[in-house]
Amino acid sequence: MRTFLLMTATLVLGTAVVARSATPADVIEARQTSLKAMGKAMKSSAESFKSGSPDAVLIRANAQVIAGNADKLATWFPAGTGAGGPTKTGAKAEIWTDPAGFAKAAGDFSAAAKAFGAAAQGNDLAATGAALATLGGTCKACHEKYREKD
Ligand code: HEC
Repeated sequence: MRTFLLMTATLVLGTAVVARSATPADVIEARQTSLKAMGKAMKSSAESFKSGSPDAVLIRANAQVIAGNADKLATWFPAGTGAGGPTKTGAKAEIWTDPAGFAKAAGDFSAAAKAFGAAAQGNDLAATGAALATLGGTCKACHEKYREKD
């Protein structure tokens, strides 16, 4: 009986551990959700600038969403989360065959995202607009090399 209980406990524990670790599908879905949110925040900010009367409060909130991912994006692409699995992803194999290039692209994004966040926080619209343009360039640069075209 005691052995049986111990075995059951071990099984339950084992299952809990498996259930807690993220599968490649979880990782892909989570990063796509975050990237979509960043896309929205970029678009909303750009549109606000284009309107001719930028909404500083809205832009600051958007900047926070993006700056909050500054140091995270680089961690969203662990090995084994590329194409070929059951989950559709636009992540190209080059992310893993050219890790230095990908790290550089992620680093450029990180710096630009923080600069955008700081400029928005500082309430200087001209500087914020310039930082947004620089940031947009880092999204594009990475996508051109490491993201599959739709
Ligand atoms: C270092 C590389 C890199 C940077 C920097 C980067 N992205 Fe991406 N992005 C990717 C990759 C790779 C994918 C494909 C991810 C996938 O499908 O699993 C992607 C996908 C996306 C998607 C599509 C998500 C979906 O599934 O619908 C959006 C939107 C997006 N990125 C927006 C942005 C914006 C906005 C920025 C800049 C603020 C940015 N990205 C910066 C690499 C990057």
